[in-house]
Parts: sequence; structure tokens; C-alpha cells
Amino acid sequence: MQWWRDAVVYQIYVRSFSDADGDGIGDLDGIRSRLGYLELLGVDVLRLTPFYTSPMADHGYDVADPRDVDPVFGDLVTFDALVADAHKHGLRVTIDLVPNHTSSEHEWFRAALASTPGSPERARFHFRPGRGAGGMKPPNNWTSAFGGPAWTRVRDSTDGPGEWYLHLFTREQPDLNWTNPEVWADMEKTLRFWLDRGVDGFRIDVADGMSKPEDLPDMVAHDGPDPRFDHDGVHDVHRMIRAVVDHYPDAMVMGELGVRDGERFALYLRNDELHLGCRAVLADAPFAAERIREIVQQSLAAVSSVDATPTWAYSGHDLSRPVTRYGGGAGGVARARALALVMCALPGAVCLYNGDELGLPDVDLPDELLQDPLWSRCGRTERGRDAYRVPLPWEGGPPGYGFTSGAPWLPMPAEYGLASVAEQLEDTESTLSLFRRAIELRRAHGGVTDTTLEWFGAPEGCLAFRRSGSTLVCALNTSDVPVPLPPGDILLASGPLLDGDLLPPDTAAWLA
Ligand code: GLC
Repeated sequence: MQWWRDAVVYQIYVRSFSDADGDGIGDLDGIRSRLGYLELLGVDVLRLTPFYTSPMADHGYDVADPRDVDPVFGDLVTFDALVADAHKHGLRVTIDLVPNHTSSEHEWFRAALASTPGSPERARFHFRPGRGAGGMKPPNNWTSAFGGPAWTRVRDSTDGPGEWYLHLFTREQPDLNWTNPEVWADMEKTLRFWLDRGVDGFRIDVADGMSKPEDLPDMVAHDGPDPRFDHDGVHDVHRMIRAVVDHYPDAMVMGELGVRDGERFALYLRNDELHLGCRAVLADAPFAAERIREIVQQSLAAVSSVDATPTWAYSGHDLSRPVTRYGGGAGGVARARALALVMCALPGAVCLYNGDELGLPDVDLPDELLQDPLWSRCGRTERGRDAYRVPLPWEGGPPGYGFTSGAPWLPMPAEYGLASVAEQLEDTESTLSLFRRAIELRRAHGGVTDTTLEWFGAPEGCLAFRRSGSTLVCALNTSDVPVPLPPGDILLASGPLLDGDLLPPDTAAWLA
């Protein structure tokens, strides 16, 4: 059964979802206590961000032990209980794997630091001598995604300057060497470890990373090919992952792919690699019908060449929240709601990020409270991703808004109280109610697993389409003037419609 083909995936940023033990940080027991809510929302599968043992230099994407739970989030017993309870609620559970790098606190990296150049311990990572006089310069010109060089120099055994190691992210996230058989064997062990505990699949972090060109060539002009990502060797890694996963009926692998080119992107979705590939293309779309239509067409064309299914996302823990991206305030909320209806009407899988179903905006946090390494590493020029990682409001009242009985790890603004789950469950016009109804109708109207669309003629700044095999038509108005709705019975609208069946600006509607 290819359940993932039309799944609604709900991303839980574990740290910010729900805190059961009162330390201000979300945890696995917190998620367990909210499974009823997730069932009510109607999503099919949860995707948990990393909860493994970690010093939290990148909030868990720096993994010190991929086969254990960090005490801040719980333990393996809690994890097992969470999976069992989720299954009882009809929810599948997928977890985030981070194969491109480890934490600098991983026992392998500590052993690498304690050993010498050319040792088997260092061969699990990318250690190289520096360039120039005294090896003072990094081995190549690669930059880290968080700013500065992608190389850090270590001390040698006499405490003098030694080799350099590669890290595409923070220096606490050394890149693994995927030409090393031990790295492969360890990944296989990790996959089986979690699959045997009952998980329904994985999200692969930086799924276009891992493999590096052998000679580690310099990066050329910034618009040229990027040797750091999407190197051909990565497909062998995905084939290995898939071969293991295929031993478990129904398990699914989804990858985070930064690959822009449609043909290169499709290679990852060949039938022995990833089931789903996620690149948040809708997040790049301005609120303009023509552009949205173009992006949708391109994405459908890319996946159809390999007979795969598309995956849609308009947000995530690395992206500004849709409400804010579309201008904030009432207009931002209206546009985010409209785009949500477009996304849920498309064929394929849909990824929601926790809090978007509440229409939460980004939070403007004071400098001194920012925690994302991006902020400190790039010399405080980029504010980082904390603004869209603020904990979820479950109830109206401060200070913890039902998220925690303690102090939330990032402060929650008063406006989050007004947007709480409790408030929105009571309100039939709320964004939460819109999402619940959309998820329900999406399924009821069929055609979700088909990957073709029929476009209808629409006025300038508008679009209208129907999934092949579905009875549901979606119309969107991104123009400044109200437009007539296509014929049909109105099933759902992202905002109030005008008399005479007019679709106002910043609004989408579903018709049967
Ligand atoms: C991915 C994650 C991001 C993390 C990075 C390094 O892009 O989504 O949050 O910082 O990988 O692991």
C-alpha cells in the first residue's frame, strides 16, 4: 500500500510542540499528550525533528548518538510509548535522520581528534592538510551554510597547528566521509534500530549532501555548479537506505532536497531511492497566481518523468512562517489561508509545519534571546530561525500558554494566546477549523494520488484547477479586484465571499 502518495505529513519541531515535564522545552511525552489533537486535525503521519543525544549546537541536528534519546526529550521507553500510542490514534510516525554529519561530541569524532593524520579514526570524516605556507589556509574555499569557511583547524599531538576538517554546517557538525564503509554500516544499523522499534519511516536531512567529489574542488562563481551538494555518488547512499527500508512493509523515506533543477531533483525519486522529495517550492512563491501556477507545473513535470508523486510544503523550521512572508497582519493571514487551500487541493503529499494550522506569525525576538547558531556564526548579520520556532500556544493564558508549566525556551508573545488551539477549536472560522475541513474534504473528493491537473481559464491574477479524477475545483484570486467564481457548489473558502458569488482578493475557494 503506497499510503505516503497522498499523505498529510505534520512536522513536529519537538523542542517547541508541547512540554510535559515543565522545563520549558518540548518533549516526547508532550507529543504523546497531544495525539488526540493531531487525530482531530486529520493528519496521517508525524515527522519528528531530531530528538537524539545531542549537545544542541544546532538544536539536535548535531547528533552525538543516533540510537538514543536526549534526556531533555525523554528516553527510549518514552519513545516506544509514543510510537505505540500514535499508532493507536491511527497516526504513523517518521523521524528525522541526519546522515551528512555528526556532532563533534560523537565518539567517532572525539576519537578522530585524539588520533593522528592518516588514521582510520580520521578516515570517517574529511580531514585534510591546509594550503599555503604552514598549512595556514583551509584545504579549499568552501563556505559553511552558517557563514564562514566550511573548515576548522585542529591541534596536532604536540598541540601545534594540525589538519583541517570539513563541516558544511557549524563547526560542531563535522561532515561524515561517505566513501568509508564504516559510515555505511553504521547508518544501516541506525535504520534498523528505529524500524525495529516500529517507526514508519524517515525524513533524510540534507538528502543531497553526503557524497563529495573526490578531489574536493573549489567552489566557482556563486551561480555555477555547487560541488558541496548533489554529487552523483549520493544516489548510491539512497539506494542503500531504500534497500534496508524495503525490508519493512509500508515504511517510507522522504528527503530534504535543495536541488533546484527539475531533472536532477527527479533522479532522487527513482523507484529504488526516495519515496518523497521535499523542497519547499511553494515557500519561494510570491503571492501571484501566474508564478504559483508555473511552480506547480514545473514540480508536476519533474516528478512525472520518474513516475513519482509530488510533495508540497510552504513552510518548515528553516523558513519564515507563511503569514509573515505574505505581509503579516490580516492580509498575511488571508493570503496564507488562501495558499493553504491551494496546497491541500494539489495531488500528492502535503507537509504542514506545526503552528501553521493556527496561522501563527513569526515572532520578533530581542537580540539577546536569539539561540540559533546562524545568528552567532554569521557575525550577527542574519537573525536565524528562532522567529519561526517559538513554542505552540495550546491555551490562552500566559506565561506558558499551555505549552509548559515552566518558562518557555523562547518567549511567547501575547498574540499567540489569541491564536491558541483551545480558542481556535471553538471557532468555526478559525484557521485551525479551515485546515481540519480542508484535510477532510481533500480525501473525500478523490484524485489525490493522480499526478495530473486540469487548469481552467481564469482572470488575470487568478488560477483555477481540478485534480484529474477529483470532483474538487480550487480557485485562487491574487489580484486586487473581486472576480466571479467558477460554476459549482461552494465547499469551502479561505475567507468570506462577496454577494453574487464573487471571489475577493487574497482568497481561495473549493467548489464541487
Ligand atoms: C537541515 C535542517 C536544518 C539544519 C541543517 C543541518 O537543513 O533542516 O535545520 O540546521 O540541516 O543539519
